[in-house]
Amino acid sequence: MDTDIFARIRDDHDKHRTLVELVEKTKGDSRGRRELFAKLATDVRAHADAEERVFYAELMKHTEGREKAGHSVKEHHEADAIIEELLEMDYASTGWLNRFATLAEELRHHMDEEEKEIFPLAGRLLSAERKKAMVAEFDEAKEHEMKKRAA
Ligand SMILES: [Fe+2]
Ligand SMILES: [Fe+2]
Repeated sequence: MDTDIFARIRDDHDKHRTLVELVEKTKGDSRGRRELFAKLATDVRAHADAEERVFYAELMKHTEGREKAGHSVKEHHEADAIIEELLEMDYASTGWLNRFATLAEELRHHMDEEEKEIFPLAGRLLSAERKKAMVAEFDEAKEHEMKKRAA
């Protein structure tokens, strides 16, 4: 298996892009909206935690990677706050969809930035060995977060 950390993270991003599109198509306080959004929220949060524990922790060890890592972590917190709001809002209100549109935009921007700006930088800074070894560490950290959130 020659997956590296970039391919692993990209897999999650593609899943998140699909889920965002599906939520955008839902209407009102439907079971579909609740289920799809719950799935997206849990996965996005566990993904961000795993990125911070494994990928960004590694990038922070390099002076050159610190600024971008810090910026990404800040965006994780911003997305997390909007997710929290959405979970508490009335799913049937137009306000919910408007707020979701903001989250969708932020998530898309964040994922594009990671793929287009951060991956090339990390590609230069991290060793080939670490790029591969981080896949299992990422999976483990994410799994741990998912279990914690399900409990
Ligand atoms: Fe991220
Ligand atoms: Fe990500």
